[in-house]
Amino acid sequence: MNTQTVKVDNGVDNDDSYQQVVDCLQNGGVVAFPTETVYGLGALATNLDATKRIFEAKGRPSDNPLIVHIGTKEEVSTYAEEIPETAIRLMDAFWPGPITLIFKEKPGVIASNVTAGIGTVGLRMPNHPVALKLLKLLGGPLAAPSANRSGKPSPTKAIHVALDLDGKIPFILDGGATGVGVESTVIDMTATPPAVLRPGGITVEMIEAVIGPVRSEVNAEESETPRAPGMKYMHYSPDAPVWLIEPDSNQIERAVDKLMNAGKKVAIIGPDELRTDKSQWYFSTGTITDPSQLAATLYNALRLCDETEADVILAVETQSEGMGVAVMNRLKKAADGKRFSSETE
Ligand code: TXA
Ligand code: MG
Repeated sequence: MNTQTVKVDNGVDNDDSYQQVVDCLQNGGVVAFPTETVYGLGALATNLDATKRIFEAKGRPSDNPLIVHIGTKEEVSTYAEEIPETAIRLMDAFWPGPITLIFKEKPGVIASNVTAGIGTVGLRMPNHPVALKLLKLLGGPLAAPSANRSGKPSPTKAIHVALDLDGKIPFILDGGATGVGVESTVIDMTATPPAVLRPGGITVEMIEAVIGPVRSEVNAEESETPRAPGMKYMHYSPDAPVWLIEPDSNQIERAVDKLMNAGKKVAIIGPDELRTDKSQWYFSTGTITDPSQLAATLYNALRLCDETEADVILAVETQSEGMGVAVMNRLKKAADGKRFSSETE
């Protein structure tokens, strides 16, 4: 299959480009498109054959449900039942935006593989002009996981999608780099109190300011049956092993010395303030005082590391609050728990 990248910059008359993509989706095809978080790989969520193609293209395990993207809040009642009042408040506060709400599924509407047979459905209204226009023209729901091969960092640029899925999908809508850079927050509204299953673009502090206390089940991913099935798979891994390291220049120097003495080539992903020319590569993630800059640049930096000959990647930690929570969650997965400290042999 030939993959066509279609540029849809704002301000240009591109109705024809959208129409060929919408036709493809209506005929059961899959298409990559930008959202405010990361690029998604979409198919009509009510079409079982179409949504099967998503799993095939990504190499995604079938027990991992997909988020359903919708263009209006009103559609929620078409796909979900028993919508709590707290959910309406979250939608009013944050939609369109980077938060996915899990509801009881209305039976028989969404294709069975989208919800992986667990009886709930995750809905989100993305805050991106391309995604919203696509949803409006399609007039239906788009099941869409991140548009990477399973196990690779989520794509924040169209070129990342092309690198992973070239030849496997017909179209990539190129709307430029995404803004938030990490995926949406996933919150289970069927639990009391609601449970955050994945930290993301909307922080727990922001959620609690609207609906009061919520529970965090983010670490439930270590358990046997995680609530957001996707959280049990190791994600976001570049080719070389990733080690976390604290934001301390002495510590970083020690680590680089040690690794280089052992004959290793080192790439560092870290803030402007800690830049060093001791390592072979240093990929900057913005200022240390703003974790949202790290969120916006992290996946691109992990992919840039893949283009180097680094044997080891050191990733500098950030504070675990606000957007830092989502970033640290992704970094810990990329590192698979490995952390460099003075005691590390
Ligand atoms: O920002 C995002 O959410 C991006 C963009 C494309 O919208 N999408 C995304 O999808 O990150 P994906 O498939 O890579 O991650 C979806 C996560 C997985 O951890 C999955 O297990 C969980 O949401 N999830 C989806 N539906 C669920 C459900 N009904 N119950 C529990 N978890 C669910
Ligand atoms: Mg993903």
